Amino acid sequence: MINIQNVSKFYSNKRVIDNLNLSIPKGKIIGFIGPNGAGKSTTIKMMTGILPIDEGSITLNGYDIEKQPIEAKRCFGLVPDRPDMFLRLKGIEYLNFIGDIFNIPSEIRQERIEKITKQFSIYEALHDYIQTYSHGMRQKIIVTGVLLHDPPIWILDEPLTGLDPKSSFILKEMMRENKQRGNTVFFSSHGLEVVEQLVDEIAIINHGELLFYGSLKELSEQYPSYDSLEKVFLELTNDA
Ligand SMILES: Nc1ncnc2c1ncn2[C@@H]1O[C@H](COP(=O)(O)OP(=O)(O)O)[C@@H](O)[C@H]1O
Ligand SMILES: [Mg+2]
Repeated sequence: MINIQNVSKFYSNKRVIDNLNLSIPKGKIIGFIGPNGAGKSTTIKMMTGILPIDEGSITLNGYDIEKQPIEAKRCFGLVPDRPDMFLRLKGIEYLNFIGDIFNIPSEIRQERIEKITKQFSIYEALHDYIQTYSHGMRQKIIVTGVLLHDPPIWILDEPLTGLDPKSSFILKEMMRENKQRGNTVFFSSHGLEVVEQLVDEIAIINHGELLFYGSLKELSEQYPSYDSLEKVFLELTNDA
């Protein structure tokens, strides 16, 4: 459960998030969709405590990200848009670091690391430095870290960008599995390709404003004259 209440964000004097309200239930996959520059990453950074919230508040499973950051951070795993982190660690060192932080017993840890990294075809690279990994491999090591501690909320910023078709397929399967176990999966995307096959609900944002939140069915009912999600999306985010 994620609760975003009256959230605004300013860069210098420019308002980039405008009084955003969004309540995301558990056990669903939610696509956070909008064109480049719409405010997706800024919102995700506020949700995860990376950027301060200028107005309003955000809670994750009831914990306020600014007032109870440790409790809130235990509830989620983040796959950021730029997975260029911990480059001086080897893959296995990064995963053990995550395992230590979240107190994952060593047996479970080893089992999960082996299973997930083999699925992702990065098992052989675990003893190489993350510095030497490709974009997709860096993303996959971070996803492995998230699944290692198996949080109730999974937040992903443009997760399918840069993944090869097989990895993209596996990641989508993992997102579905996660939802089936009652967890929340919240991911952003500037494209629509994956959305239709994956999400239960979508939130459409443009210029920092929420334009729609609901199921695809509700979207098509609200905009009956459009015969595809793509046309609705283009219409909603059309600036002209
Ligand atoms: N560090 C920053 N300083 C100033 N403006 C920024 C900064 N980061 C993002 N912006 C602006 O905020 C808006 C939203 O950006 P962002 O959240 O990255 O969009 P998205 O992830 O949807 O592509 C854009 O207009 C962008 O130019
Ligand atoms: Mg972004």
